[in-house]
Amino acid sequence: SGYITLDIGYKNTGATKSAITFLDGEVGILKYRGYPIEQLAEKSTFIEVAYLLIYGELPNAEQLKEFEYQISRHTLVHEDMKKFFDGFPSGSHPMGQLSSLIGALAAFNPASLKPGLNADEINLEIMKLIAKMSTIVSWIYKKSLGHPLIYPQNKYDYVTNFIHMTFGQRTEEVEIKPVVVNAMNKLLILHADHEQNCSASTVRIVGSSDANLYASISAGISALWGPLHGGANQAVIEMLEKIKADGGDTDKWIKKAKDKNDSFRLMGFGHRVYKNFDPRAKIIKKACDDILDELGLDDEVLEIAKRLEEVALKDPYFVERKLYPNVDFYSGIIYRALGFPTEMFTVLFALGRLPGWIAQWKEMKENKEPIGRPRQIYVGATTRNYTDIKKR
Ligand code: CMC
Repeated sequence: SGYITLDIGYKNTGATKSAITFLDGEVGILKYRGYPIEQLAEKSTFIEVAYLLIYGELPNAEQLKEFEYQISRHTLVHEDMKKFFDGFPSGSHPMGQLSSLIGALAAFNPASLKPGLNADEINLEIMKLIAKMSTIVSWIYKKSLGHPLIYPQNKYDYVTNFIHMTFGQRTEEVEIKPVVVNAMNKLLILHADHEQNCSASTVRIVGSSDANLYASISAGISALWGPLHGGANQAVIEMLEKIKADGGDTDKWIKKAKDKNDSFRLMGFGHRVYKNFDPRAKIIKKACDDILDELGLDDEVLEIAKRLEEVALKDPYFVERKLYPNVDFYSGIIYRALGFPTEMFTVLFALGRLPGWIAQWKEMKENKEPIGRPRQIYVGATTRNYTDIKKR
């Protein structure tokens, strides 16, 4: 005690030792369990990456089959949870719904609250959570449209099932296009973990009080909601739309972003750790072109985004501060092309980040980390005597 180091925003304080994700922000390198993100995004599937993050190794064929099977067995959510959707006013933000519903999963599942769960019991909760998350995310979307909810079908793999529940219809068979499933896999993989970011740290710190898995993840979802974190993907599209409506004058908006008297920031730019290209942004930018091409779409905001990037990367303000496009800069353009409304973007980030949060929570438990409890330097009033309300 006695001596306290102050590091507001934890800019240079390590909170843990971790073997999950490696990130070199100076060079722009990201690896999950040692595997470069570029290889995983190109070759793997989201569920395989989830397994890798959570258990530390790529699964063999049998392990993968078993993991997928266990997840597919748990995709149904308690029918009474549907009543939540009747309670939320129409138009309520999907992230508010998601954090409540995920927190509520613990209340619907008392077995998850038993103290001292063993490794098998924890694994079961992990697979249930991954399974139910995709159903809940799709249902939030369906409810936002006022459409009937679509039930999961175990014949589909995880991502196909998600697309089926999200864009399927009760009244007719809707074609599930491989381009959509592949794009979704890629985006989910790219979002799956990012070491000790705001939401992962939240999950670890909440979990360190021995709070259950669902409560810890629900807290992570709330942390992700902020526009400085996962909420940036929604903010980016809103910004690009505004710039488009304003005539597409990118120079004017870059000027605004540089103006210290203007609170406007170039959303999707800058990062606490990357002082170089965010490798995820590079992959997503390329994927934008490919996916829009395959879907036969043209989106003017993609051109605006590319122009903003080009101008910013040459501008001394951004160069000096090493501000580059981050993961959120181009992802929304793909989500939109797939048919998702803007308000769902951060929920999709959460769906992708879930395995990372789980891996961080599990590692924290396995390391037997003590309760997270930062210190402070007190700068408030010294002792004062209570004054009666009439004398204040
Ligand atoms: N537009 C304009 N100026 C910026 C921006 C931006 N997007 N980002 C940082 N700066 C400036 C900032 O004003 C500061 O300037 P100065 O040194 O003159 O005061 C300098 O760059 C350093 O920024 P900071 O805010 O001190 O850096 P930070 O590490 O605390 O914040 C950040 C990182 C990501 C919150 C910030 O860059 C930001 O607000 N970006 C926009 C929001 C965004 O895209 N967030 C998504 C992050 S990546 C995915 C995720 O986490 O979900």
